[in-house]
Amino acid sequence: MAKLIDGKLVAQSIKDGIKKEIDTRLAQGRRQPGLAVILVGNDPASEVYVNNKKKACEAVGITSTAYDLPDTTSESALLELVDELNDDPSIDGILVQLPLPGHINSSLVLERIKPAKDVDGFHPYNIGRLAVRIPTLRSCTPYGVMKLLESTGVSIRGLDAVVVGASNIVGRPMSLELLLAGCTVTTTHRFTKNLEEHVRRADIVVVGVGIPDLVKGDWIKNDAIVIDVGMNRLDNGKLCGDVEFDIAEKKAGWITPVPGGVGPMTVAMLMENTLYANKTFHDPLPA
Ligand code: GUN
Repeated sequence: MAKLIDGKLVAQSIKDGIKKEIDTRLAQGRRQPGLAVILVGNDPASEVYVNNKKKACEAVGITSTAYDLPDTTSESALLELVDELNDDPSIDGILVQLPLPGHINSSLVLERIKPAKDVDGFHPYNIGRLAVRIPTLRSCTPYGVMKLLESTGVSIRGLDAVVVGASNIVGRPMSLELLLAGCTVTTTHRFTKNLEEHVRRADIVVVGVGIPDLVKGDWIKNDAIVIDVGMNRLDNGKLCGDVEFDIAEKKAGWITPVPGGVGPMTVAMLMENTLYANKTFHDPLPA
């Protein structure tokens, strides 16, 4: 039976550390870190995520400023807001919750965020830094997955890692993170010929596609580490991941639950990135 990787616990200990560090900086007379959270429209899942992010800010001592905009907001109005926040010295991080409504070009908006305020780590500059092994602001979910892998105590250098899904916000930066950590990485996607064959030989499997039970439990190699980034709401209201959990947990060495695995880590890493942006780029301690 696999050991459970408790994302809630790991996330809490990261947030505790962030709160301590922010308290210390405040006591030294530094400015409180600030995060701008932009939500366009009223996608119910996005509203839940954004609320979790605001609550986490409050818990660690980051000021969050919410911009809840109607889904009729024009692309140019959104770009103008990003420009304003880029120039606002009280703002260390800008988060634009995805997905954006169809009439707005997401790449254009994400690329408009100043790289030093890109606390989601989605800007091509920050993805490029990760690609060439000099990461600064790192995409929250993949960065959180690396912290979960670290929490197992397993040395992952040289292991075969298979990433299922090649999205800009999970699969691609995830593959770059694992490569940086010395894994031999395979990235699979919708055109992959034989997904099962790849998963069966993986020491580490990270799945982020948004399809319930896409990865069958009996594909998991004995003692593999299984990280499920999926967050699917079933018709009965229950949340489930992309991996067939009940069978996978009988084969894996380590596995993340859904919920309570990767989800809380994304928020914790956003807090970490906001503090990092604050102290590295906008309010550094004197040399
Ligand atoms: N939508 C789904 N995941 C994320 C995320 O990590 N950040 C943002 N901004 N939007 C998302």
